Formats: sequence, structure tokens, C-alpha cells
Amino acid sequence: MNPLLSRLSPSITNMIRMDHTHVLTTFHQYQADDSARTKKGLADTICVALEIHAQLEEEIFYPAMRAIADTEFLQKSVPEHDQMRRLVTQLRNLEPGHASYDETFFELMNNVMHHVADEETLLLPTAERVLADRLGELGAEMTKRRLQLAAPRSGEIAGSMVRSMGPRSLMLGAGALLACSYLVGRPRASRGPAAERGTHVVAR
Ligand SMILES: [Fe+2]
Ligand SMILES: [Fe+2]
Repeated sequence: MNPLLSRLSPSITNMIRMDHTHVLTTFHQYQADDSARTKKGLADTICVALEIHAQLEEEIFYPAMRAIADTEFLQKSVPEHDQMRRLVTQLRNLEPGHASYDETFFELMNNVMHHVADEETLLLPTAERVLADRLGELGAEMTKRRLQLAAPRSGEIAGSMVRSMGPRSLMLGAGALLACSYLVGRPRASRGPAAERGTHVVAR
């Protein structure tokens, strides 16, 4: 591994945290009264992200940890991934209008939240103690492998992200745009003499 790349790469533990944040944020966008299209887009986005994340952990992170500290959590981590994969398959085989779709989605969310909580409170802090000098190198290895795993699925990833953008996401996007245009326009107004005196300029 290129030593410069290893030094510049985010640590493997921070990359894992970023993956968790992305997937949990996507889970939080799902609501039972969303359209079937939005639900499927969100669920598909989560399923692909979980599959890639679990494979990366199993190929790179867990073996590095096992070589140093075989904790109780490491022993149950792969069976927990397998349970998550079973729910992913179950969800993919259902239509969003099906009576069990929401239930399966929230069961997956529940499983993932417990697993993520254990990783973030037990495994990652341990890794930062016992693998301190390898975190960057392992992060770079994970980035390289992620590109290999995501490239053949890029169409699937982009399609589900577009479908996941329901009216709520569009409203949030419009709100963010309005906030940006307000912030961009603000300094120009404050440059005028009236603004310097602290008075308001009213457009006529
Ligand atoms: Fe995991
Ligand atoms: Fe994880």
C-alpha cells in the first residue's frame, strides 16, 4: 500500500462511522405514508449500502481485528450480518404495497440499529486502541475495495437514489436553496451605507 495514500486516507473507523450515518439517515427518511415509489427507492438505497458495507467489514475490518483481539462481539458480527442479509432479500422480494413491507423494513432498521450501536460503542473504540498504527492503511484498502464493489452497481445505486427523493426531500432541497440564496444575497445588502447605519432598506 502506498504510504502517502495510507496517511491521507480517512481512518477505517471513521469510514465505518460515515457509512453508518448514511444508512441511518436514509432509514430516518422512510415514513409509512410515503408513496410506494419513495419507499422502494429508500429501501433499495439502504439494501445496497448495507450489502457493500457488510462485505467491506467482513473482508477487511473484522479479519484485522480478529488477528489482534477476538471479542465476543466479533464472534456474533457475521451471524448478525447474515440475519440482515436475509431481511434484505425478504424486502427485495416484496412490493412496497404489500401488507408486510413496512414491518420487514422496520425489522431491518431495528436489527441494523442494534448492530451499529454495538460496533460504535464496543468495536470501533477497541480498534482505535489496538490498531492505532494501521487505521489509515486499512481505510485506504477499504476505499479501493469499495470502488470495486460499487462500480458494477452504479446504475442501481443512482436509480434508487432518484426514486427515494419524494416530495419531502424536494421540499427540503428547495428550503436549502432558499436559505443559500438568502445567505448569498445578505452581504451585498450589508455593504450599503444604510446597512452600515443599521437601518433597513425597503424596496419600492
Ligand atoms: Fe457490521
Ligand atoms: Fe458496520
